[in-house]
Amino acid sequence: MRKILVTGGLGFIGSTTVVSLIENGYEPIIVDNLSNSKEMVIDRIKQITGKEVPLYIIDVCDEENLRTVFAKHHPEGVIHFAGLKAVGESVEKPLSYYENNLLSTLTLLKVMKEFDCRNIVFSSSATVYGIPQRVPLYESDPVNHATNPYGETKVMIEHILMDTQDAWPELNVAILRYFNPIGAHPSGLMGEDPNGIPNNLMPYITQVAIGKREYLRVWGNDYPTPDGTGVRDYIHVVDLANGHVATLKKLDTNPGVVIYNLGTGKGTSVLEMITAFEKATGKKVPYQICPRRAGDVAENYANCDKAYNELGWKAQYDIVDACRDSWNWQSKNPNGYNK
Ligand code: WQD
Repeated sequence: MRKILVTGGLGFIGSTTVVSLIENGYEPIIVDNLSNSKEMVIDRIKQITGKEVPLYIIDVCDEENLRTVFAKHHPEGVIHFAGLKAVGESVEKPLSYYENNLLSTLTLLKVMKEFDCRNIVFSSSATVYGIPQRVPLYESDPVNHATNPYGETKVMIEHILMDTQDAWPELNVAILRYFNPIGAHPSGLMGEDPNGIPNNLMPYITQVAIGKREYLRVWGNDYPTPDGTGVRDYIHVVDLANGHVATLKKLDTNPGVVIYNLGTGKGTSVLEMITAFEKATGKKVPYQICPRRAGDVAENYANCDKAYNELGWKAQYDIVDACRDSWNWQSKNPNGYNK
């Protein structure tokens, strides 16, 4: 398998994965509708790899245009990143999330079947576990009801993929449940560039460090955790990208459906992250303790033994590396990809 269609390939995780694919001898083709990315990322990919990656600015829901891309490139595999992903927004606009995330996947699978493209890696999320009954989380833990429509779309898509594989046994499906992606490509040329006020912790921290935001609001310090603040499993985006490459190699063995947690196996609290960032960058991060954020859980981190045992993959970077790389990106790109 060499030609890989990457939906959402200009995004934070998608673009980092495209670079990793090229570095590992694959030929990526990008489809992206620019709803949460910038076209100039294709230039950064070329700057890093020297490669011209075919780019199609289309929506994965657009069956005719998607079919044209398959007809031209005949990809042997797909990595499906494209989708709306803001938890809070999904609560306000559930229909948009169900329509976009489900319809894009249904359209993609229909066209894949037409062109006998038999391999798909799906960008799922730890949010499918809902409120964890225990930590660390294992792939065998129940995937019942996510705590928001965004997470619910991920649960539904996992079921769509498994049912499709049941009916199409030649299809290979890898479901990757990401924990909390942070960091940036070490070149500083690509990184996280959220629209508007960042929801996630790391981009908010880097915007405080660069002076764009006055201080970090720490959402609650009364959780049942060592220092009272929320604990998450933060994984460097380059580790995440490399996990996708390792997964493609697994799909070459025709495994049917495989599911992996992609995390570090270690929990880090908000206050620990602030300390790590200040240590890695020398930048102070002023913060204020605020009330809990609705929908947050106390602790959420992964057991990643399965990915190590079956893929030979495990995270190589720690949170200090990720803080360093996030700051390198933000300090070189104070306004993200906007000039
Ligand atoms: C992390 C911790 C917050 C911001 C979400 C999605 C998940 C995935 C990753 C898509 C929590 C605290 C945060 C801030 C804070 N996305 N925090 N102040 O909520 O664990 O996961 O993003 O797949 O699906 O649910 O990530 O970065 O928002 O929060 O104190 O300004 O940082 O309370 O403890 P989260 P996060």
